[in-house]
Amino acid sequence: MLDLYPLIRPALPLMDAEQGHRMALWALRNGLLRPETTPNDPVLTTSLLGRMLPNPIGLAAGFDKNALVINATQSMGFGFIEIGGVTPRPQAGNPRPRLFRLSEDHAVINRMGFNNDGMDAIAHRLTQREKAAGMVGVNMASNSDSTDPANDFDLLVEKFTPLADYMTIDISCPNTPNGKVFQSKAPLEGLLERLKATRARVAQQAGIALPCMLIKSAPDLTDQEKQDIAQVTKAAGIDGMIVSNTTIARPDSLRSRHRSERGGLSGRPLFDMSTRLLADMYKLTEGKVPLIGVGGIASAADAYEKIRQGASAVQLYSAMVFQGPHIVHKMKHDLAVLLKRDGFANVGVAVGAAHR
Ligand SMILES: Cc1cc2nc3c(=O)[nH]c(=O)nc-3n(C[C@H](O)[C@H](O)[C@H](O)COP(=O)(O)O)c2cc1C
Repeated sequence: MLDLYPLIRPALPLMDAEQGHRMALWALRNGLLRPETTPNDPVLTTSLLGRMLPNPIGLAAGFDKNALVINATQSMGFGFIEIGGVTPRPQAGNPRPRLFRLSEDHAVINRMGFNNDGMDAIAHRLTQREKAAGMVGVNMASNSDSTDPANDFDLLVEKFTPLADYMTIDISCPNTPNGKVFQSKAPLEGLLERLKATRARVAQQAGIALPCMLIKSAPDLTDQEKQDIAQVTKAAGIDGMIVSNTTIARPDSLRSRHRSERGGLSGRPLFDMSTRLLADMYKLTEGKVPLIGVGGIASAADAYEKIRQGASAVQLYSAMVFQGPHIVHKMKHDLAVLLKRDGFANVGVAVGAAHR
C-alpha cells in the first residue's frame, strides 16, 4: 500500500498542532498509511490483564478520543490501544489553541479538556470494530460541568462494560475541574466500590466475563497520595494501574517558547518522573498489580526501562508527534534486540527485573 506519511511529514511542523493531529486522523481513516505487517518477534509476547499480547507497546489515551481509527491504529503494529477519554455527554473541550508542540524539548503541552463525541456515539463506533481486533481499552472521565462526577463514571461503566476489554478510570486529568477529585483515599474507595458493583451487575445481565478495570494516576503525587492509591487499588482488587498521565510540573530544562502554556506536559521531560512513580507503585503494590508504564517513551530503551521497573506493558503518544507512526515498527525491532541481549525469553520475565 501507498505510504503517504513521508509526504505529509514536512508539512506537519508548519501546522498548528491540533490541525496536524486532525490530518493524522484523516490519513489513518482514509487508509493512507502503510500498515505494519512485520510479524511480532515471539520475545515481545507479554501477558496483560489475563490476555496474551503480541507485543507490549500500546497507544495511549487521547490520540483516538472518538474511536474513529481503531482498526487503523491497530494496523500500525500496536499490541493494544486505548480510546477516549470519553465523557457521558459530548463536550467541546477548552477553547483553542489548546495543544502545543515543544519541539526543542520533544514534548507536548495539552489542555484539550476532554473534547469528545460522548459515550453513545463512541460506544456505537466500538461495536463496529473488526472482530479480530486486539485489546481495546476505553478511557473514561466525567463531564467538566458535572455536579456528580461519580455518577458520570457509573454511567460510563454501565455503557462500556459489554464493549471494552478494559475500562480506565482517569483520576488524573490536569485540565478539567473534576479531573482529580478522586485522587484521595475515601472518595476513591467509594468510587471504586460503586463502579465494581455496576460492572458486576451489567456483566451478569449480559452473560459476559467482567472486563478489567484500571485506574490512571497523575505523576504529581505526594508520598501520602501514592500510598493511598496503591493501598486502595490493592484492597479493591482493581485489575491494574496506568502510570502516568501528563504533569503540571514545568522542569527548568524546558526551552520551547510554549513552555509556560497551561495544561499537562508529556513527552521526554515526563520520562524520569513517570518512571520513578512506576517503580514506587511496583514496590508499594509488591508487584501484584499489573502496571502499564506511560510517559516520555520515545525509544525501545525507554520502553525497556519501564518494563524493568515494573511495567507489564507500555503506552506512548507524544513520541509519535515527533517520530511519526513508524516508531512502532522500530521500537518493536529494537526492544526484541535488547531483551535477547539480556537473556530474557519474553517481556513477561523482564517485568520488574530492576527490583530483583
Ligand atoms: C493531546 C493529548 C491528549 C490526551 N488526552 C488524554 C485523555 O483524554 N485521557 C487520558 O487519560 N490521557 C490523555 N493524555 C495523556 C496520555 O495518554 C499519556 O498519559 C501522556 O501523554 C504521557 O505519555 P507520552 O509522554 O507518551 O505522551 C493525552 C495526551 C495528549 C498529548
